[in-house]
Amino acid sequence: MDWGLKNRLSRMIKPATGRSVMLAVDHGYFMGPTHGLENPRTTIAPLLPYCDALALTRGVLRQCVEPTADVPILLRVSGGASVLTEDLSHEDLTTSMDDAVRLNVAGVAMSVFVGSAHEHATLVNLGKLVDEGERLGVPVVGITAVGKELQKRDARYLSLASRLCAEMGAHVIKTYYCEEGFDKVVDGCPAPIVVAGGPKFNSDKEALELAHHALELGAVGVDMGRNIWQSEHPVAMIRAIRAIVHDKATVKEALDVMAEAKRSTVAPVASRVPSPTA
Ligand code: R5P
Repeated sequence: MDWGLKNRLSRMIKPATGRSVMLAVDHGYFMGPTHGLENPRTTIAPLLPYCDALALTRGVLRQCVEPTADVPILLRVSGGASVLTEDLSHEDLTTSMDDAVRLNVAGVAMSVFVGSAHEHATLVNLGKLVDEGERLGVPVVGITAVGKELQKRDARYLSLASRLCAEMGAHVIKTYYCEEGFDKVVDGCPAPIVVAGGPKFNSDKEALELAHHALELGAVGVDMGRNIWQSEHPVAMIRAIRAIVHDKATVKEALDVMAEAKRSTVAPVASRVPSPTA
């Protein structure tokens, strides 16, 4: 791995623990102003001090995040479909690597829809994006997108999709956790894996359990959105996730972190400060 690429990757996956808490706020690219993310600037600001990378589109980055913010950016560079369409897989690359470099991002991310009508196009695009990433020293995160099919995506599917992304050269794979066989998903994927949270669970505890299980079985972190910013206590929630990811906290310990964080007043901050658990 070239120096620049490794350096960018190390800004997101922290060398001290080899792990990462990525905060996903890119949902508007196909969901629009979804619940909790109506005003991205307001949602993002208090969470910034606690994430190792911020995953979003260039529009929200330019409009809602100060250029002085000290946070590595994982830029989503694919899109082209909305929640109103039946076929969410009809995506293409929507942002150039030139613009990603201009934005000084730490990495780029795109969705790959294995098994969909657009499997071929999204896989080939991933290969091309990795070529560009290798040329310019920008890590590529391949996202095993599931569209409206999350419930149907088992370990067999996630293993296939993750492995394909890794074979195309993606430096990190973002996939989903599955209750059975997630260890096989990790074992069959030569690139490090981070897990998305998926739709909001009924309780924060369930999302903490997901993160804990995924990390126990070999994921290097989370790229989590709705279960953080749709929580009634987003800052407390991300602090609990940090405890699991970086401090190897149990779910019970993470709940204690959360309870303590709820008690303390955490003022929104304009700039990044060191995380208490970093
Ligand atoms: C899909 O919209 C994006 O790839 C999200 O970044 C991803 O699904 C992670 O967010 P969540 O934890 O809300 O699933």
